[in-house]
Order: sequence, then structure tokens, then C-alpha cells
Amino acid sequence: MGYQTLALFLLCSFLCQLVFSSFLPHLCPSDQALALLQFKHMFAINPSASHDCFDITGEWMQSYSKTLSWNKSTDCCSWDGVHCDETTGKVIELNLTCSNLQGKFDSNTSLFQLSNLKRLDLSSNNFSGSLISPKFGEFSNLTHLDLSHSGFRFGPHNLELLLKNLTQLRELDLYGMSISSTFPLNFSSYLTTLRLSDTLLWGILPESVFHLSNLETLDLSYNPQLTIRFPTIKWNSSTSLMYLSLPEVNFIGKIPESFSYLTSLHYLDMRSCNLSGPIIKPLWNLSHIQSLYLRNNHLEGPISQFFKFGNLKLLSLGINNFYGQLDFLSSNRSWTQLEVFEVSSNSLVGPIPSDVSGLQSLQSLFLSSNHLNGTIPSWIFSLPSLDELYLNDNYFSGEIQEFKSKTLWDVTLKQNQLQGPIPMSLLNQQSLSYLLLSKNNLSGQIASAVCSLKALTVLDLGSNNLKGTIPRCLGEMSELWVVDLSNNSLSGAINTTFSIGNTLRVIKLHGNKLEGEVPRSLVNCKSLECLDLGNNELSDTFPKWLGTLPNLKILSLRSNKFHGPIKTSRAGNLFVHLRIIDLSSNGFSGNLPMSLFEDLKAMKINDEITKIPQYVGEDLYYHFSETITTKGLDLEFRGVLTTNIVINLSKNRFEGCIPSSIGDLIALRTLNLSHNGLEGVTPTSLQYLSVLESLDLSFNKISGEIPQQLASLTFLEVLNLSHNHLVGCIPRGKQFDTFENSSYQGNDGLRGLPLSKDCGGDEGVPQTTTPFGLDQGEEGDSTMISWQAVLMGYGCGLIIGLSVIYIMLSTQNPAWFSRMVEELDHKIITRMKKYKKRY
Ligand SMILES: *[C@@H]1O[C@H](CO)[C@@H](O)[C@H](O)[C@H]1NC(C)=O
Ligand SMILES: *[C@@H]1O[C@H](CO)[C@@H](O)[C@H](O)[C@H]1NC(C)=O
Ligand SMILES: *[C@@H]1O[C@H](CO)[C@@H](O)[C@H](O)[C@H]1NC(C)=O
Ligand SMILES: *[C@@H]1O[C@H](CO)[C@@H](O)[C@H](O)[C@H]1NC(C)=O
Ligand SMILES: *[C@@H]1O[C@H](CO)[C@@H](O)[C@H](O)[C@H]1NC(C)=O
Ligand SMILES: *[C@@H]1O[C@H](CO)[C@@H](O)[C@H](O)[C@H]1NC(C)=O
Ligand SMILES: *[C@@H]1O[C@H](CO)[C@@H](O)[C@H](O)[C@H]1NC(C)=O
Ligand SMILES: *[C@@H]1O[C@H](CO)[C@@H](O)[C@H](O)[C@H]1NC(C)=O
Ligand SMILES: *[C@@H]1O[C@H](CO)[C@@H](O)[C@H](O)[C@H]1NC(C)=O
Ligand SMILES: *[C@@H]1O[C@H](CO)[C@@H](O)[C@H](O)[C@H]1NC(C)=O
Ligand SMILES: *[C@@H]1O[C@H](CO)[C@@H](O)[C@H](O)[C@H]1NC(C)=O
Ligand SMILES: *[C@@H]1O[C@H](CO)[C@@H](O)[C@H](O)[C@H]1NC(C)=O
Repeated sequence: MGYQTLALFLLCSFLCQLVFSSFLPHLCPSDQALALLQFKHMFAINPSASHDCFDITGEWMQSYSKTLSWNKSTDCCSWDGVHCDETTGKVIELNLTCSNLQGKFDSNTSLFQLSNLKRLDLSSNNFSGSLISPKFGEFSNLTHLDLSHSGFRFGPHNLELLLKNLTQLRELDLYGMSISSTFPLNFSSYLTTLRLSDTLLWGILPESVFHLSNLETLDLSYNPQLTIRFPTIKWNSSTSLMYLSLPEVNFIGKIPESFSYLTSLHYLDMRSCNLSGPIIKPLWNLSHIQSLYLRNNHLEGPISQFFKFGNLKLLSLGINNFYGQLDFLSSNRSWTQLEVFEVSSNSLVGPIPSDVSGLQSLQSLFLSSNHLNGTIPSWIFSLPSLDELYLNDNYFSGEIQEFKSKTLWDVTLKQNQLQGPIPMSLLNQQSLSYLLLSKNNLSGQIASAVCSLKALTVLDLGSNNLKGTIPRCLGEMSELWVVDLSNNSLSGAINTTFSIGNTLRVIKLHGNKLEGEVPRSLVNCKSLECLDLGNNELSDTFPKWLGTLPNLKILSLRSNKFHGPIKTSRAGNLFVHLRIIDLSSNGFSGNLPMSLFEDLKAMKINDEITKIPQYVGEDLYYHFSETITTKGLDLEFRGVLTTNIVINLSKNRFEGCIPSSIGDLIALRTLNLSHNGLEGVTPTSLQYLSVLESLDLSFNKISGEIPQQLASLTFLEVLNLSHNHLVGCIPRGKQFDTFENSSYQGNDGLRGLPLSKDCGGDEGVPQTTTPFGLDQGEEGDSTMISWQAVLMGYGCGLIIGLSVIYIMLSTQNPAWFSRMVEELDHKIITRMKKYKKRY
């Protein structure tokens, strides 16, 4: 009987299996398949809908449309992104992350028929404009919900309703959603992961979040309106919490003692949290910490104290006031796992020790903007996995040695005292994207091997002692955005052919000994925004053909041997975006280029009021806030504001009169026509240049009176009309009350204040004569300096400074700067990941 039963059982189970397996290909109930297909057809496919596509570690992922392959001929349980319950066949998991979906997410969508879902991931798609449906609350068994970067909008109570119903939830990711409410008091007690970065949450975070006893990951970053008060007693999540990310949130009170119980914590991010003073004691108890970000606070203390953390993989302390020397790194074998060491913009002094053996895992070393000196020790050049090296803005001397690794992608040694040649190993790197060696004493030639850097986007070798010619192949590099070879001793012709389709946006070659003509192939640089060939020995006529470059915003040919009249054809539409043109100190002759003035369309629109000022090239790397225009900041941090509009034609041989059409260039800030042979009168149309800040017409032969209407130029800070043949009364009022004698001296018959000669006004008291030439030099120079600053400081240079230099540099740290720094951080990391992916 026992046997019989057993046999029966075996037979049955065999049959069952047979029956079951024959059903396997059709597991998916047709209503579920239909619901999925209907859902699929609700959306368009648009690759840009998934542009924010990163996995949980921040690694960039290639997006692709999972739904494209869904079709009726196959079982829906086998469809990409779909998982079914093995026994019931119901869809329990739908993962459409990064699927290029775009469109409106209606609340009647068939998705809500999949009521058995346990895991739902719609992240990194574009449902922008869709209000999150309360029906998400009907997925009552949902354990995982990821809507990050999906564009949903939340109403005031949506989050509350959602969380109230989703009582089984373990993981919730709403990164980048616009929630704009407080965080509700009722939520699943099973939560292990809560990611709420950049959600516009406000109010006070319920303390109960910290008491979720299974909580492992809590990410509240970039919610400046969200106030956080840590529990003062031991948190219920103390032993489970591993990942805590709090940059740019608002703490109330101090970090409490209870922090010291976070014994599992291995990731802590407190960037830009306005922390000050020494590191609080409880943090030193976090002995398992692997990633510690304290960047951009006001923390202080000896750098060596961090050696207490033996398990670090990443340490980011930039923009604080940590001090001391790096000698603690020597001969110690701790920190063998450290991959990223970032201490830029602190107060470190002395040399990098030469006997460091422990840091063999180091990939990124950021020591910029400290007071470090001595030579760069050879262990750095031998690091096997080094990819980013930032030692800029220190006092390092000696030569750059040959790098052993071939993994470099960013080398920034700018602004030191380094000498010797550019090492060949730097020119043999497949992934090198940024090479910034400017402002050192490097010598030798630029080897044409530089062109084999296929990934190079920025080449900044400016302000060194480099000799020889510009490599011919430079114009053939396909990824290059920025070339700065300025202020070296490069000679010969610019014998480079810029190939069709190149991506160059900035070319700076000023301050060399280049001769010959402007290479005609520059016409292929369709992306070019800034071309600076100033201070060379170029000899050519005006390259009007550059006018066809659709994006050119800055053109400087100053101080060369350009000659001849400037005539642009009547074709028009040339130089339409040009904002800065400097042709000064050349041999241009003939009349002022009226047809050119007519072409300069960008100078005829004063959109300052309607538009937030932007920076030339800013879309490349960053955007600044408006407040930057505040004076007194280091110029190198600034970009060229697109509102900074300048014409400098001084020191040429222009003659004839000043065309009154110049008054159409209403966006002009600086106009310098000095040191020419201009005649005639000052056009009254200058009164329309309502934002003009600096006007220099000195050293010409201009006659007649100064138009009284110029008194309406309320932005005018610098005026120089000296050494002309002006007569009559100096206008009175507004800015004109602030100019000194030097603005007017050397004219034949000017009268009135501030000159001594009375102009018959109310103030009939003759003043004593001011000695001639008192302020002459001063006034002239200051115009000059401000101009040079515009070109050199702001000039195309800033763009080169791009990336991390900005992060690293300043120890002054105004609010806009730190904000920018954070944005930059993100961008750089993002770009870096993308980059690594590609190579
Ligand atoms: C997202 O979709 C909206 C409209 O559906 C569109 O205006 C917007 O440009 C899209 N965003 C991206 C990044 O594609
Ligand atoms: C249907 O789906 C299968 C599997 O995903 C795929 O191989 C096939 O190309 C699809 N057919 C159509 C017509 O899309
Ligand atoms: C959902 O509602 C929209 C209007 O809001 C309608 O156009 C659409 O046909 C409906 N879709 C379904 C599947 O009922
Ligand atoms: C939720 O899960 C429970 C237990 O697994 C199950 O009994 C119930 O049917 C599920 N509900 C839905 C709507 O899938
Ligand atoms: C969706 O798939 C991605 C990888 O393709 C994975 O990283 C993510 O965790 C999945 N989402 C869920 C909720 O399981
Ligand atoms: C919450 O769940 C209950 C019961 O499952 C359901 O009746 C209700 O409609 C859900 N609420 C929302 C907002 O989805
Ligand atoms: C939380 O939910 C429970 C049960 O649904 C309810 O009794 C309680 O009032 C809710 N608390 C708040 C603050 O909404
Ligand atoms: C912490 O957990 C304990 C035990 O699970 C529980 O009794 C206590 O109420 C929790 N504390 C808080 C503040 O939630
Ligand atoms: C934190 O460290 C201090 C000093 O090392 C020690 O006295 C204290 O017990 C530690 N606290 C915890 C919770 O481990
Ligand atoms: C930063 O903290 C200081 C005190 O340490 C305080 O005076 C200041 O207002 C805080 N700044 C911000 C932006 O919270
Ligand atoms: C490095 O700087 C320190 C002071 O910060 C100074 O004492 C030392 O002489 C300098 N060393 C070199 C090599 O310049
Ligand atoms: C440019 O290079 C070519 C080829 O090397 C050479 O023949 C020519 O003389 C060079 N031109 C100038 C002006 O140096």
C-alpha cells in the first residue's frame, strides 16, 4: 500500500510537472500582457528622456528602450524589465529604468491593473507634467518603488497618501522629484532605503525616520528647506544605518553624541553643511567609515587627525581650514584602500613626503590651492591606477617626471613653479581629457605627440617658456574644445590646418612670436566662441571671413601687424554674435569700419533687463549666478559675461569721422577709439549707449563741442577725451561731475568744471589752475588695466580654468561660490563617469 501510494504520488507529481511545464511559456495572464502593451503605447520613445541615467553608485548607464521589444508573440513574463510570480504568473516586478519613455502619465493608465506589483522602477524617464496619481497607493504589496528622475509632480498631500498605503515598502527613491511638501508622519516601518535628494521637501523631518530599525540608507541631500534634528538618544537605526547623505541640508542644533553609536556607518556625506570649528568628537567613533565627505564647511584642525580612520576609500575635505603637513603619510602602511584623497583649498604647508608607500590604490589626488612646496615626489608618478591629479595653485618646483600609469584622464598642475619639459608619458595616454600645465616655467617644445591624445578636450599650456612651433596636427584633434598656448615663446607661422567638423570653442595663442597670416582653415571651427591671437607678429589684412563663424563671441587681434582698411562686404550677417572685438595696436587704416558696426547684431540688443546674464562658454561647464558681477573678486573666477560688450580699435591709423551709427550699438560697455587720426565731431548718438561704462576718444583730432546729451550716460565710469581739438563747455551733472581734469586736458578750448576756465555757470569763482598732466598717466592706465583684465583675466582663460580648478582654488568662499562648487562637483563627477564609460 505504501508503495502504491508512493508510486501514485510519483506519477502524479510527474504528470503535474509535465502539465505545468507545458504551461510555462504561457505563464503571463493575457490581461496582464494587454495592460503592459497598453502602457507601452502611452509613451513616445525619446533618448533624451533618460539623459539622467545613473545607477545607484553614480555610474553612468546607457539608456535603451526596454518596451520596444515587447510583443504578443512572446510570453510577457519574458519581456525585458518584467518579472512574474512563478506560481501565479502575475506580474510582480516592472523595471523600466532608463527606458527613454516620454509622455503624460494618465491616472487611468493600465499600469494600475498590475495590482500585484512588488517592485516598480520607472526612474530616469520623462513623465514631466504628470501629477503623481493617488492610484500608486493601490499597489498595496509594493516593497520597492523608484520614481527618481521621472518628472512626476506631487500635489500637497500626494506623498502622505502614498506612504500611508504602501505599508510594505522597503525601498523608496524619489530623487529629483518636485515634492514640495513636508515629510509625512505615517510611513512603512520596514523601510531600509529612503532616498529623497533634491525633492524640495520642507519642514521638519520626523525624528521617527531615524528610528526605523532596519534603515540602512538615508539620503536627504540638497533639501535646504528641510530641517533636521537628530535624536539625542541612541537611534533605533544606529546599528543598521550604513549610508547617510546630508549635503546642503539644514541641521538644528549640534551633531549630538548619539552619532557615536552609528557603528555600521561607512558612508557619510556632510558637504556644505555650514559645520564649523574642530571635528566633533562623536565622528571619531565611526571607525568603519569608508567614504567621508566634509567638503565646503568651516572646519579646522590638523590634517593628520584623519589617520584615525583606517578603512577609508574616499576622503574629501576641500574648502575648509585643515592645516599642518603631510608628513604623517610617510612610511605608514595605513590607508592602503584609499582611492580618493581630496584636500584642496585648505592650509596645508611643506612638501609631500617622498617615502610614501601605502597609498597604492590612489586614483584621485586633489591637493590644489594649498601652500605645498618642494618637488613632486616620484611615488606619485608611480601610482598604478592614478587617473586624476590636481596639484595646481601651490609652490611645487622641480621637473614633472614620467608617469608610470596609462590611466590618466585629468592632470592639472597649473600655477606652480615647475620646470623642464612636458614629459612624454603625458602625451601617451588614451583617456587623458584635461591637461592643464599653465603658469609654470616649463620649457622645450610642444611635441606633435600631443595630437595622439585622442580624448583630449582641454589643452592649457599657457604662461610657460615653451618654444618652437605650434604642432601642425593640433587642428585635427577631434575632441578638443579648448587650446591655450598663450604667453610662451612659440614662433613661426600658425601652420595648422583646422579640420572640418572640429569642436574647438576656445583658441588662445596670444603673447607669442607667431608670424605670418591667420590660417584660413580657422573657417572650419564652426563652434569657435573665442579667438585670441593678440600680442604676436602676425601680418595680415582683417580676416573678415571669420565673420562667418556662427558662434564667435570674442575676437582679439591686438598688438600685431595687421594692416589695411577694414571692409566687410555688404552681404551682412557677419560677426552676428561678436561681443568683444579688440583690434588695437595694429596698422589698420582707412575709415572706421561702418559696415562692420552694422553687422554686429549682438551689440545692438540690450537684453540685460530681460535676460539673466550668461557667460561665454558657460554651457560647457558651469553657470554662475548674477551676483558675480560684484567687484573685487579674483578675476580669474569670472567668465566673460555675455553682457560685457567691448569695441577696442585704439592705436591704429583710422581716420575720418566717427559714424553716428555707432549709437546703434546700444549694448556697448566699453568703446575705445583712442590714438587714431579721427576727425570731425563727437556724434550725439553716443547718448544712446545707455550702458556704456568706459569711453576713450583721446589722442585724435576730434573737434567741436562735447555733446551735452552725453550727461545722460549714467553708467559712465571712465571718460577720456584728452588730446583732441575739443572746444566749448564741458557738460555738467551726473557722471560728468565725477571726471577729473585728465579726461579733458590737451584740448584747444574746453571750458568749465573741472577745468579752471569758467564756463559762465552759477559757480563763477575761477579756480586755480591744475598743473597740466597731473592725472594723465593714471587715468590712461586704469582704462588700460581694466581692458587687459577683461581680456586676460576674464578672457577665454576662465573657460580653461573650468572644471575643478574652480572648485579647488578659492579659499574665499562667498555663498554663490559654494553653491557653484556643489553644482560643479556633481557635474564633474557626472562627466567623469560618462567619460570613463566611453573609454
Ligand atoms: C520632457 O518632456 C517634456 C514634455 O513632455 C518636454 O518639454 C521636455 O523637453 C522633456 N525633457 C527632456 C529632457 O527631454
Ligand atoms: C518580439 O519579441 C522577441 C523577444 O523579445 C524579439 O526577439 C522579436 O524581435 C520581437 N518581434 C517583434 C516583431 O518586435
Ligand atoms: C485616459 O484618459 C485620457 C483622458 O484623460 C483619454 O484620452 C485616454 O483615452 C484614457 N485612456 C484609457 C486607457 O482609458
Ligand atoms: C499581497 O501579498 C499577500 C501575501 O503575499 C497576498 O496574500 C496578497 O494577495 C497580495 N495582494 C496583492 C494585491 O497582490
Ligand atoms: C532596475 O534595474 C536596475 C538595473 O538595470 C537595477 O539597478 C535596479 O535596482 C532595478 N530596480 C529595482 C526597483 O529593482
Ligand atoms: C489605500 O488602500 C486602500 C485599501 O487597500 C484603498 O481602498 C485606497 O483606495 C488606497 N488609497 C489610495 C490613495 O490609493
Ligand atoms: C497613522 O496611521 C494610523 C493608522 O492608519 C492612524 O491611526 C494615525 O492617526 C496616523 N497618524 C497620523 C499622524 O496621520
Ligand atoms: C526603538 O525600538 C524599540 C524596540 O523595537 C521600541 O520599543 C522603541 O519604541 C523604538 N523607539 C523609537 C523612538 O521608535
Ligand atoms: C566613542 O569614543 C570614545 C573615546 O574613544 C569612547 O570613550 C566612547 O565610549 C565611544 N562611544 C561609543 C558609543 O562607542
Ligand atoms: C552658518 O553658521 C554660522 C554660525 O556658525 C551662522 O552664523 C550662519 O548664519 C550660518 N549660515 C547659514 C547659511 O546657515
Ligand atoms: C616650504 O615651505 C616652508 C614653509 O611653509 C619653508 O619653511 C620651506 O623652506 C619651504 N621649502 C622649500 C623647498 O621651498
Ligand atoms: C608649413 O608647413 C609646411 C610643411 O611642413 C612647410 O612646407 C611650409 O613652409 C610651412 N609654412 C610656413 C609658413 O612655415
